[in-house]
Amino acid sequence: MRWTARIEGLLWAWVCLARYPTGEATGSYYHYISNINNIPSDVEVYSRISLIICSLHCDILPDCWMFLYRVETKDCRVFPNDTIRELDTSMAGVQYRLYALHHTRRVLYFFTRMYYKESSETCQAYGGRLYTPRTQDEVMMLQKRRMFGFVGLTKFTGHWVDSAGQLYEEPSLWHSLYPTGNGNCARIQDGYLIDCNCRKKERRFVCDVLYESSEGSSLG
Ligand SMILES: *[C@@H]1O[C@H](CO)[C@@H](O)[C@H](O)[C@H]1NC(C)=O
Repeated sequence: MRWTARIEGLLWAWVCLARYPTGEATGSYYHYISNINNIPSDVEVYSRISLIICSLHCDILPDCWMFLYRVETKDCRVFPNDTIRELDTSMAGVQYRLYALHHTRRVLYFFTRMYYKESSETCQAYGGRLYTPRTQDEVMMLQKRRMFGFVGLTKFTGHWVDSAGQLYEEPSLWHSLYPTGNGNCARIQDGYLIDCNCRKKERRFVCDVLYESSEGSSLG
């Protein structure tokens, strides 16, 4: 019956418009995460291209799993890998939309230095949390990447809690002389955790990012 087909067509168009209001094509496995204004300078920059072409630039890089896109200028910035060495200060205040692969759990290394609070906020902006090591191997992984900065641990009313706010119960990862009680934050040193001041010094940090699938998906 023709009228049912027509109604179906209209419904389908409505669903498509509702899901992909920008009119971008579908079929991508990237997912919108958040708006970012801490823009790294170690990204590949492409100007005046569509969101889809931007995602293809990420596709063809072997270690790429996220990219930034700015609708106003059609600017595309692709992360070559999991390492951010520098933030682009000339981009301060400019907002990009961050897209990342679905179902992805990654470690994102920031070699730029920040205080604990700012680093924690930056991880949140990137869709994650400060990374909390739970095994000796994880501590060694950070050590190997020369990531001696803040980890996702803070002392809260006398107890160490991880970046998810859960009580942290891996005392074997502490250096034998630590924690000393000289600070409410923690970092890596010589393959162990030590406690430190949260605001005395800006440090490197590591984010634990988890991009779960959600309704609507695609590049929307
Ligand atoms: C990440 O990509 C940059 C730019 O291509 C490169 O210089 C750097 O060595 C890469 N880092 C890692 C850990 O692969």
